[in-house]
Amino acid sequence: MNNETVIVLDFGGQYNQLIARRVRECNVYCEVHPYTLSLEKIKEMNPKGIIFTGGPNSVYDEESPRYERAILELGIPVLGICYGSQLMAYLLDGKVATAPVSEYGKTEVEVDSSSKLFDGVQKSTICWMSHTDYIATAPEGFKITATTPVCPVAAMENEEKKLYAVQFHPEVLHTQEGSKMLHNFLYNVCECTGDWKMDSFVEKSIEAIREKVGDGKVLCALSGGVDSSVAAVMLSKAVGKQLTCVFVDHGLLRKNEGDEVEAVFGPNGNYDLNFIRVNAQERFYNKLAGKTEPEEKRKIIGEEFIRVFEEEAKKIGAVDFLVQGTIYPDVIESGLGKSAVIKSHHNVGGLPECVDFKEIIEPLRDLFKDEVRKAGLELGIPEYLVFRQPFPGPGLAVRIIGEVTAEKVKIVQEADAIYREEIEKAGLSRNIGQYFAALTNMRSVGVMGDFRTYDYAVALRAVLTSDFMTAEAAEIPWEVLSKVTTRIVNEVKHVNRVMYDCTGKPPATIEFE
Ligand code: XMP
Repeated sequence: MNNETVIVLDFGGQYNQLIARRVRECNVYCEVHPYTLSLEKIKEMNPKGIIFTGGPNSVYDEESPRYERAILELGIPVLGICYGSQLMAYLLDGKVATAPVSEYGKTEVEVDSSSKLFDGVQKSTICWMSHTDYIATAPEGFKITATTPVCPVAAMENEEKKLYAVQFHPEVLHTQEGSKMLHNFLYNVCECTGDWKMDSFVEKSIEAIREKVGDGKVLCALSGGVDSSVAAVMLSKAVGKQLTCVFVDHGLLRKNEGDEVEAVFGPNGNYDLNFIRVNAQERFYNKLAGKTEPEEKRKIIGEEFIRVFEEEAKKIGAVDFLVQGTIYPDVIESGLGKSAVIKSHHNVGGLPECVDFKEIIEPLRDLFKDEVRKAGLELGIPEYLVFRQPFPGPGLAVRIIGEVTAEKVKIVQEADAIYREEIEKAGLSRNIGQYFAALTNMRSVGVMGDFRTYDYAVALRAVLTSDFMTAEAAEIPWEVLSKVTTRIVNEVKHVNRVMYDCTGKPPATIEFE
C-alpha cells in the first residue's frame, strides 16, 4: 500500500514487537524483520528509517547476531536500542565493554535536549535500563547526548550521518518520555509525515479486496471474536453477498454469545452478507462425554469443529477465497533470523485443508491487536464486540476442569456473566488483560438456609498482561470480589464456594484447564 515504512531489525530482543507497536502509534507503518534481512532487500524497501532492537548477546561473542557495516552508510537514519546501540558502536570502531555494574530498571538519565532525538525531553528523565555491556567509548564523529552515573554513553549520535543510539529502552512505558523520543526519531530525524492511519487503511483495504475478489465467492469462519468479526465486516463492505460467514455454535460459548453474534451478523443484523449459524451443541457434548484430559478435550473440539465446517462448506460448494483473521503478531518471524520460523497460526486450526478454495485472504495480516480494534471501530462494529475479552477457540471447555457437561457449561456461563458484569460496572474492564470465571471440579460441603449442600467451587481469574506470554494476578478490589461472590452463590445453582486465583503465569497458565 506504499506507506512510509520503518524497518525494525530484530536482534533477538524481547521488546521487538513493542517497538513496532510504538512506531505504529506514531502513525508510521513499521515492519519487524530478522537481522538476516539482506541489504539488497532493505534498499528495495526504501525505508524512512531503521531501528536495531536490543538482544541478549554481547557484540564480542562469536555467535552474536551482527549486520554488515554498509547498513550505516546508506544515508537512511538508524536508531540503535540497547544491544542495537552497542552494535552500532562496535561496527564503527567505538568501544563496547562489560559495565562495572549492570543497570536494571528505572534509571535517571541526563540528556542533552538540544539533540533532535531529545527535543522537548526533560534534562533529567527516567528511562528503563537492562544491560550488562555498555558503550565505553563512542565512535569517532559521534557526540554523547546522554549519560548516567554508570553509563558514560547512555546515548550518542552522529547527526550528519543520521545515526542515533540509546542504551535504554524508549519503547517500554517505564521510560517516561520514551514515546516522545521515538516520535522525535520518526519525525525530526526520519522526516516521516505520519501516513499510517486506520481510516485510510480500512478504505484502501476494502478497495484492494474488491479488486482481488472480482465476482468470486468468499467463505469466512466467524467465531464472534474480534479478529474474525473485523475481517468479516471488511469483506462484507467490500463484496457484500458474495461473502458467506459460517458461525459454529459449539455450545461452549459465553452466556448469550451465540445470539449476540447472530444479532449482529445474522439476517436481521447490521451487515449485507450470507450468514449460516450451525447449532452443534449436542454434537460437541456427545463427543466430550466422559473425557477429562485437557489436551484430549482440545483435540476433540478442534476436530469436530473442522468436521462441522467441512459439512457446511460442502453445501456451499467450491469457493474462490477463504478469509482468515491472522494478525501481525502471528506473522512476525520469531527469534533470531537464521532458524526463524513463521508461526503458522490459523484461527480455526486446520481449516484450509478441508475446504475447496483457491486463495486465502488475510485482511488483518499487517495489524496489531489494538489496530484491529481501531479498524473495527472505523468499520462501525459495536464497541462491545470490538473490546471483547480474548476468548479461546475451544471455549468454555478450557475453563471447566474434568468432564464437560451441559450442566457445567451452564454454571460457568452464569458465573462468568455475573463476574464480567460486575467488573464492567466497577470500571475495571479496560485495565485488566483478561478475566473470566472457571469451574473447578471440586465439590464441597456448604450450608444454605438450613440445608446441607454439596456443590461446586467457582474460580475467578483476572490477570494483567501485555503479551499473554507472562501475566500476574490482578488486584481486584475486595468490595468487587465480595459482591461477585455473593451474587454467584445466590444466583447460580450448584455453586457454594467462590475462589480467587492469585497465581501468575508462569507457573500457571492464563486459562484454567
Ligand atoms: P494460556 O492459557 O496459554 O493462554 O496462558 C494465553 C492466551 O491464549 C488464549 N488461548 C487461546 N486462544 N485458541 C485461542 O484462540 C486456543 O486454543 C487458546 N488457548 C489459550 C488465552 O485465552 C490467553 O489469552
